[in-house]
Amino acid sequence: MEILNNENIKIPEHIAIILDGNGRWALKRGLIRTMGHKVGAETMRKTINYAFSLGVKVLSLFCFSTENWKRDKEEIAYLFTLPIEYFNKYTDKLIEEDVKVVVSGDISVLPKETMLACDKAILKTKNCKSYVLNICLNYGGKAEIIRACKQIVNDVNSNKLLLENLNEKTFENYLYTKNLPPVDLLIRTSNEKRISNFMLWQIAYAEIYFTKTLWPAFTKKDLDKAIEEYNHRQRRFGGV
Ligand code: IPE
Ligand code: MG
Repeated sequence: MEILNNENIKIPEHIAIILDGNGRWALKRGLIRTMGHKVGAETMRKTINYAFSLGVKVLSLFCFSTENWKRDKEEIAYLFTLPIEYFNKYTDKLIEEDVKVVVSGDISVLPKETMLACDKAILKTKNCKSYVLNICLNYGGKAEIIRACKQIVNDVNSNKLLLENLNEKTFENYLYTKNLPPVDLLIRTSNEKRISNFMLWQIAYAEIYFTKTLWPAFTKKDLDKAIEEYNHRQRRFGGV
């Protein structure tokens, strides 16, 4: 790819993706929504490989939100089979490539098999150091912040944390993304221009890129375009 051969291009350290448009992609083709999720899962696999091959260090993918429970039962059940399939097939490859799996979100309420598949992948890759794959499952940015606050109150009450030591840095220790860098580039597919409760804290200074491409149709070229656009942005972080 062109972008790989361009030495001057700055590769974002952390890319987060709101993958959207699976249902529309399927319906446009006269298929049922779950077919969109099936192809979307394959797009995820390819995007993970490509992003890390470019030198992205952390990739966060919004796979299931705390609001997605509003969907019908069959669709939800199907969505929860996808992590099982992916981790069963590809955890060994992730280890080979030194990718650590992190899961953001409350997975304790997911189907047991899904939770176990995630836990197994987390455990097996825990010593990997080069890359981080952050799968956001039953994740919501507001829920994450409330969870952090509750843990902070507990730690303050049990003298594990002094209230005067609470600051932006120490607060981050209570997020799912503890020890991960902030998001540099946030991508949302399918022409929706919303954040939808995704990584509210972590995207504070992210560059945001929207594309009309529906997630199952997202290719290397789309990621290249997002990174190219990112390279044209001036990040001032509040400075001049
Ligand atoms: C994104 O595609 C996948 C998930 C959020 C699980 P959608 O299922 O939201 O697709 P649309 O928005 O209905 O097209
Ligand atoms: Mg959607």
